[in-house]
Amino acid sequence: MSQRLPATLIPGDGIGPEIVDAALAVLDALGAPFDWDHQVAGLAGVQAAGDPLPQAALDSIRRTRLALKGPLETPSGGGYRSSNVRLREEFQLYANLRPVRTIVPGGRFDKIDLVVVRENLEGLYIGHEHYVRIDDDPHAVAIGTGINTRAGCRRILDYAFAHAIATGRKKVTVVHKANIMKALTGIFKETAEQLHEQKYKGRIAMETVIIDACAMKLVIDPWQFDVLVTTNLFGDVLSDLVAGLVGGLGLAPGANIGADAAIFEAVHGSAPDIAGQGLANPTALLLAAAMMLEHVQRGDLAARLRQAIDATLNLDGVRTGDLGGRASTAAFTQALVARIVNG
Ligand code: NAI
Repeated sequence: MSQRLPATLIPGDGIGPEIVDAALAVLDALGAPFDWDHQVAGLAGVQAAGDPLPQAALDSIRRTRLALKGPLETPSGGGYRSSNVRLREEFQLYANLRPVRTIVPGGRFDKIDLVVVRENLEGLYIGHEHYVRIDDDPHAVAIGTGINTRAGCRRILDYAFAHAIATGRKKVTVVHKANIMKALTGIFKETAEQLHEQKYKGRIAMETVIIDACAMKLVIDPWQFDVLVTTNLFGDVLSDLVAGLVGGLGLAPGANIGADAAIFEAVHGSAPDIAGQGLANPTALLLAAAMMLEHVQRGDLAARLRQAIDATLNLDGVRTGDLGGRASTAAFTQALVARIVNG
């Protein structure tokens, strides 16, 4: 029997429990090696423990260093701070890995296979912002500070190059805006060039491209790219852009990776508009589970899971509503489990 691995499971809010149930059934059928420690967070955390990120959930992740997580609701404009951002900070999850691949052919773009590696802790996302009052206008001036460190740039770039090599990729594109933000994103470009020269030259190709040109090229000819690595805010925007190339949120997984923990999740949120109705597509979370299997060196199970998802969607034609089908979450899950069990 393969080695069992303790892992934290957070169902989350809205459609979270429905898609996490689906993921558990599918991982069970696969014989995945995880021993789950069930925890709550988000709105469910507030309801159960009076805290959107209860200490027990943090302690669990600190112990297991591995988590699969449903979406967590964050109230807009007031209320508690995003538990997702707190988790990233708490465990220094510096790399946000967002792969996109065409699974359902025949969309606007076909045969897409890209990875966006987003820096997750620095840049213009750190929230050091304030207003300056002039006369009777308290919001007369808005100031935001971005911080990129040499060490932070090096860490994410090193991760991107190593990940690209380990996964058989051909090229890493470093996305920046060093022509205008000469210091803030110049340090990212400069560090990339130095690191490539010192450690990765001859092992993987590197190019640099300015963010605005990159956005245009991704829409005109996305096939020219392979792995894209960039600073926090640009990565946020580009990862949604590339999710759009393959049909949107129902198919977009994400991983938050740090030195001490890794948290896997769907890119989408808690979808309150369809929660509790059995309509949610669990595929994005299942693809995140496949990334989690790869992370623990069970690429064999990840490959079986991806093949079964392909077969269920394309050979069996079983699809949830967001993909134009009529299957419920449960019916899709049943079909997928049958594919896993019967091949
Ligand atoms: P959302 O991603 O939850 O929903 C956007 C649209 O996509 C909705 O129409 C929804 O029904 C649909 N959708 C999303 N996932 C789907 C799925 N698996 N199957 C079928 N349809 C799906 O974004 P929204 O409404 O802006 O956010 C809702 C809540 O989720 C907010 O509280 C937000 O803060 C939170 N959120 C949490 C995230 C996380 O935990 N990583 C990420 C993004 C949002």
